[in-house]
Amino acid sequence: MVDIPKESAEKTHHPRVAVVWSVLSSEIERFAAGTGARLRIIDVGGGSGGFAVPLAELGHDVTVVEPSANALASLRQRAADAGVTDRVTAVQADADEIPEVIEPESADLVLCHSVLEMIDDPELAIEALAGACAQGGAVSILVANRIAAVLGKALTGQFTTALDLLADVDGIVDGTDTLKRRFETATLTALIGRSGLVTEQVHGVGVVGDLIPASAAEAEAGAEEELREFELATAARIPFRDIATQIHLLARKPVRAQA
Ligand SMILES: C[S@@+](CC[C@H](N)C(=O)[O-])C[C@H]1O[C@@H](n2cnc3c(N)ncnc32)[C@H](O)[C@@H]1O
Repeated sequence: MVDIPKESAEKTHHPRVAVVWSVLSSEIERFAAGTGARLRIIDVGGGSGGFAVPLAELGHDVTVVEPSANALASLRQRAADAGVTDRVTAVQADADEIPEVIEPESADLVLCHSVLEMIDDPELAIEALAGACAQGGAVSILVANRIAAVLGKALTGQFTTALDLLADVDGIVDGTDTLKRRFETATLTALIGRSGLVTEQVHGVGVVGDLIPASAAEAEAGAEEELREFELATAARIPFRDIATQIHLLARKPVRAQA
């Protein structure tokens, strides 16, 4: 586990996602090792390309696997607007269809951000992510943190809902929740371990960013930059990491020994 140095912060990204971009940037640098090599990236549930298009703008080849036709239409438009149509491939499919639409072990980096909370079988999906990842490649996973959901409800005085969330093994509120589950660091890393991937880094995303009123972040000049610094400084540190709104995990697929 590494602390993220402030100098490596992606200053162009919103404080909310600066931590994720910082981890992805380090992974890209590690892969390219100064050669400028292009990564083959797969973004599962990549939506309208919030990550995919900026990665293509950095020169990488990105395939977005996404079931929503509307999201894919927005992705194509966003890629066209950014002038990276030739580096973005849109594939309409669910996560569990990855083995049918993506060549095994063909990606240097596989993203699955804010998706595992809404699908039927996250274990199957993680197996599919691992299958698409090349040996030595990395999988980047971002999920909702149930501890943050409990805290969020309690801090707004919704104690009954907070207790329901705390008691439910999936960290959801029956009937009203938009998600099927939330995760905790321990349950997520255990799930990843069962797929054969090896967790290398865990960070909290949105340690306080979602708790403070927007007005506080906008009130003073430089407040956004200070919030970004705070998020980057606390993202890897327990207990801050484990109360963040989301958990980001980078796992690696081991290289198999030659027979
Ligand atoms: C909250 S959005 C996240 C979009 C993008 N990954 C991001 O971080 O900006 C969730 C995305 O997952 C997609 N999705 C839903 N069910 C899915 C499934 N079974 N397999 C793959 N993607 C799915 C949705 O269509 C949506 O685009």
